[in-house]
Amino acid sequence: MDEGGSRIRRRVAVRKRNRPTLESIFAASTAAELQPGDEEEEEEEEEMTAGSRRKKTAEVQPVENNDSEEDMFGYSDSFTDNSFLAQVDDLERYMQRPEHRKHASDLSPQDFCSESNKHNKLSITTIDNFTELKTDEHTNNQSRHEDVCIESEPDLLYDMPSSQVLYFENLQNYSNDLGDQSTKERDWNSSSHKTMNEELPQNSVEQHQQINDSSSKVRTSSEENRRKSLKEHLKSAMTGNAKAQTPIFSKTKQLKETLLSEEINIAKKTIESSSDDLGPFYSLPSKVRDLYVQFKGIEKLYEWQHTCLTLNSVQERKNLIYSLPTSGGKTLVAEILMLQELLCRRRDVLMILPYVAIVQEKISGLSSFGIELGFFVEEYAGSKGKFPPIKRREKKSLYIATIEKGHSLVNSLIETGRIGSLGLVVVDELHMIGEGSRGAILEMTLAKVLYTSKTTQIIGMSATLNNVEDLQEFLQAEYYTSQFRPVELKEYLKINDAIYEVDSKAENGMTFSRLLNYKIAFPREYLKHREEEKHEVIKNLKDVSNGNLCPVLKRTIPFGVAYHHSGLTNDERKLLEEAYSTGVLCLFTCTSTLAAGVNLPARRVILRAPYVAKEFLKRNQYKQMIGRAGRAGIDSIGESILILQEKDKQQVLELISRPLENCYSHLVQEFTKGIQTLFLSLIGLKIATNLDDIYRFMSGTFFGVQQKILLKEKSLWEITVESLRYLTEKGLLQKDTVDKCKEEFQYSFHITKLGRASFKGTIDLAYCDILYRDLKKGLEGLVLESLLHLIYLTTPYDMASQCNPDWMIYFRQFSQLSPAEQNVAALLGVSENFIGKKASGQAIKKKVDKDTVNRLYLSFVLYALLKETNIWSVSEKFNMPRGYIQSLLTGAATFSSCVLHFCEELEEFWVYKALLGELTKKLTYCVKAELIPLMEVTGVLEGRAKQLYSAGYKSLIHLANADPEVLIRTIDHLSRRQAKQIVSSAKMLLREKAEALQEEVEELLRLPSDFPGIAASSTEKA
Ligand SMILES: Nc1ncnc2c1ncn2[C@@H]1O[C@H](COP(=O)(O)OP(=O)(O)OP(=O)(O)O)[C@@H](O)[C@H]1O
Ligand SMILES: [Mg+2]
Repeated sequence: MDEGGSRIRRRVAVRKRNRPTLESIFAASTAAELQPGDEEEEEEEEEMTAGSRRKKTAEVQPVENNDSEEDMFGYSDSFTDNSFLAQVDDLERYMQRPEHRKHASDLSPQDFCSESNKHNKLSITTIDNFTELKTDEHTNNQSRHEDVCIESEPDLLYDMPSSQVLYFENLQNYSNDLGDQSTKERDWNSSSHKTMNEELPQNSVEQHQQINDSSSKVRTSSEENRRKSLKEHLKSAMTGNAKAQTPIFSKTKQLKETLLSEEINIAKKTIESSSDDLGPFYSLPSKVRDLYVQFKGIEKLYEWQHTCLTLNSVQERKNLIYSLPTSGGKTLVAEILMLQELLCRRRDVLMILPYVAIVQEKISGLSSFGIELGFFVEEYAGSKGKFPPIKRREKKSLYIATIEKGHSLVNSLIETGRIGSLGLVVVDELHMIGEGSRGAILEMTLAKVLYTSKTTQIIGMSATLNNVEDLQEFLQAEYYTSQFRPVELKEYLKINDAIYEVDSKAENGMTFSRLLNYKIAFPREYLKHREEEKHEVIKNLKDVSNGNLCPVLKRTIPFGVAYHHSGLTNDERKLLEEAYSTGVLCLFTCTSTLAAGVNLPARRVILRAPYVAKEFLKRNQYKQMIGRAGRAGIDSIGESILILQEKDKQQVLELISRPLENCYSHLVQEFTKGIQTLFLSLIGLKIATNLDDIYRFMSGTFFGVQQKILLKEKSLWEITVESLRYLTEKGLLQKDTVDKCKEEFQYSFHITKLGRASFKGTIDLAYCDILYRDLKKGLEGLVLESLLHLIYLTTPYDMASQCNPDWMIYFRQFSQLSPAEQNVAALLGVSENFIGKKASGQAIKKKVDKDTVNRLYLSFVLYALLKETNIWSVSEKFNMPRGYIQSLLTGAATFSSCVLHFCEELEEFWVYKALLGELTKKLTYCVKAELIPLMEVTGVLEGRAKQLYSAGYKSLIHLANADPEVLIRTIDHLSRRQAKQIVSSAKMLLREKAEALQEEVEELLRLPSDFPGIAASSTEKA
């Protein structure tokens, strides 16, 4: 008992030297009370107070060197030496392995040619398969010899993108293998730089084709020349761009890339040939290990991580669920498995994360890995993401998606017959499967993957799983668990003035720790702590808010305290998060959503009460929230304190001792958002079209596994039949012409046009007929004099039903509309008279549709926002929290793109197609058009985009070529880590766009396989 108390006191003494004292953390309640009423109202959830500092103490190391992510996006040249030597070592070890030599000898000339052909198509980076061309020691020596030759021609290679030099080197090696052929190639090398860039690929294709002798050449030489010249033209233009985005070629970098490429190939073979004999780093190139040290400060895997990665089931690519306490290091294992899939097995990977903010965080974190290792990192969140995804030619893609976007992505892959290209699906926070409609969507996604692709591996992880057996059965997965937590987490309870430590061995589950005698006040010395940086935070907050600043934040930030919840705009939240994670702010008061949202580690987490809104806290929620305390690499200990009233004591004691809650399927419970949507898509995608198959599919879902527990009155068969009947009655499905002799279970269904539109637009089926009706009515008299009518049509129905208009504001806003705009209201059946009467509190006899009235009110808000692009003034005008207005805007942007897809499927709505495309863009960014290209980069919000734009970074290309060091100097309040992340993300996006364009070029130049004459000529040959 005493021991615990003295431990804490000692720790306080140490912390006092470096940062504000412990008292500041307890001041949380004061800070929370400072929040204005309106902001508290709009988010009813209980607040979690996370007081912390993430840096280690100054005695151990200076703060600056301690940020494990400080160098996260550093350029590789700074760590060249170590990593290079390590790679040479690894490579040599590999070259000596008998199985590697065996693989080398197994390679046939065809392998060379096909690989080579692939290289010819790519001009951005072509390192991936490079080493398949030089797989024996002799060739290796040759290649080293060639390295020297390349070095002796520095002018030739000066500003050539490294990938192209690699290509050139490839060709050199290849030419050495070809004996006489090499002379010809050297001739090319002596030609001008420009010619080499453009000519090499084309020539080498032809050479390889000669040797290959498989000769699928059907084009005549004149045709080929014609096409070649166009291709050359396009390529030369693109090569120019590629040069612009690639940093000046460095010899060391090239060597590193070469070695990396070799390791990847060796690893690929290793993974194919043997499951015991792993590559330098879990079948991955040693560069991956270096990158983890460099970017994340992870030097060594935890024992459990090693065990998990070497499990037989993992080696055999079985589906896997693993569960460890919060901060156990689960992500790293998933990332290594994803890299294996991308680099060694060369298949795409989908990673599903619960929130947009986490997706963006992951994109920023993994973009640098993608750039270094040669794969794409693609964002599928908010309104970002392409359906179906762009088919990449060489490099593989890591799609990082929210639950909803992950589902749409899987649908589009199934629809285009490409689901097999997805090698791995990783689900973080797998327990989300039991949470409402989002859980139902996650379940559908996984069930579809399981049903349609036997080769796609599924991996799920969570810290809060209880009934794992059900999930195991659903996912046909192995299970791994451990209680490992690198940093001890001490749980405390505060009752009245006493603190008790949670102790499972104690009789009632807790032991007395100490009495509290803190004065709740902000000592003035707190003001001194990083004073200047705190002023900068305030200035920055004003900059992103057109000079406005929340009065509460103005008072609390100088003390290192801030609040954080959905009432703030994204820009404000981001700034505060950054200030917190760099130690400028010491205490955050926030809602429970932060616990599951962005990664903001804390030394201590204080829960103000054991409730979330009015609901008593669940154990899963409790564990997630307190799990933010004591993160590995940041703190040596973590603490949580749950404040409770005497009356809740018994319930809290149960809470801290009982097992985690089970998670249950929501597929059937979420009727229109669950089973209905599922059936529509099953039939729309032709995954299962008859009753029998659909029933079989349902039996394989998480719901199917839990049907005995979840279904009391009806059987699964009955539910299936009923749901299909409902969809048919709603006009979304049609039964195929019934063959009398068919049994009921053989009945087939097909999707109607309305059904397809709803499914393509991912419209909640509860609203699909209302949407159809509204759009149809719009066709009769769409007012196009302003955007108001269109905005009304894309205002989300679900948000409208929860809205309570302020009638005075409604009337004022209505009066300010132009006659044409007022006409929109009249067309919708909302008259001035009605609003006026409402505003003056008079009784109204005529019935007006409440949802329409509310929806129109919200479209006034959106309309004002699009006109003014100033959230603060709109927030004032409508007396709505700015965070709410921003989420309304995001919701409208998403719904607008859904309505667009809906209209695309219905011919009668052709006119909306052109209109809604433009509107979606306006709603998505809601900024001046010039900022849009910058805001496409993950992590760049409006405030930052404005700064970048005025500093001269006006396009994606500017950003991708920016030097982070220069950015730090020229952009106010930009940390090195952020600068590097922005540049990495911009680079990644630029590469993706360039690759997509190249693919388009290839597609244009490719002879269709059904081109008249091709089939005949190949038959003749045969
Ligand atoms: N082997 C390791 N050595 C040092 N630090 C590590 C190691 N593995 C992971 N970490 C660090 O531990 C921290 C927590 O890891 P991670 O986010 O993966 O935890 P988690 O298990 O996913 O927790 P949660 O359930 O809370 O999401 C991260 O900062 C990560 O970089
Ligand atoms: Mg995690």
